[in-house]
Amino acid sequence: MKFYCMENYDEMSKKAASIIASKMILKPDCVLGLATGSTPIGTYKKLVEWYNAGDIDFAQVKTVNLDEYKGLPEDNDQSYRYFMNDNLFNHVNIDKACTFVPNGLEKDSAKACADYNAIIKSMGGVDLQLLGLGHNGHIGFNEPSDHFEKETHCVNLTPRTIEANKRFFASEADVPRQAYTMGCQTIMNAKSVLVVVSGEDKADIVAEAFAGPITPQVPASILQMHQDVTVVGDKAAMSKLMDLLAK
Ligand code: GLP
Repeated sequence: MKFYCMENYDEMSKKAASIIASKMILKPDCVLGLATGSTPIGTYKKLVEWYNAGDIDFAQVKTVNLDEYKGLPEDNDQSYRYFMNDNLFNHVNIDKACTFVPNGLEKDSAKACADYNAIIKSMGGVDLQLLGLGHNGHIGFNEPSDHFEKETHCVNLTPRTIEANKRFFASEADVPRQAYTMGCQTIMNAKSVLVVVSGEDKADIVAEAFAGPITPQVPASILQMHQDVTVVGDKAAMSKLMDLLAK
């Protein structure tokens, strides 16, 4: 694993965006796996900035997102489709027909998951998967569990995740209780993985996930077994991990 400990959130965002941009320059028709959450917002901002400057081109890029809340329509401003349109897709020359997010409105979970697995397969694999990290070590919405889920599945969100995500909703009661998410095996199948982490409140979980035991109780820990993972964080989030690695 490669670790970059950046001075602050802005430097973290620039570094992460430069890794994505270099993939796009080397492979203009790359498949990007994308993530939501507050951490990657700065990364998307940088990509939009560089697109506006004429440095990168999304014309042939295809994207596949990690997850979506079950029950939220695309035009709900808390849906992950809305987030992606708002933070990236509406501002660049990507063909929206080539951007995929699980269908939150599909009530039949088995169908929603099978459809999404088929989409991921038809894309021929993800070149670069961007990930954030939940406070409990979740990636996408793969919550702590006694086993690693392989493919897209429907999850019951943990009280901790509902609590963490309620800041985006009018009240905790409005946070959906379930979500569709790519599984850990699908994430591990990506050729490269880029994790972004920011803030002191992530320092413990960053150290646990990347220097602790590999366990489904900390889903992100499985990334230690991937051959091409880059973790980019600000100092606040990386401090404990860097201390452990220096020992
Ligand atoms: C949500 C998303 C994750 C994201 C996590 C962390 O639960 N499903 O993909 O990584 O939140 O979010 P943040 O970056 O806001 O801390």
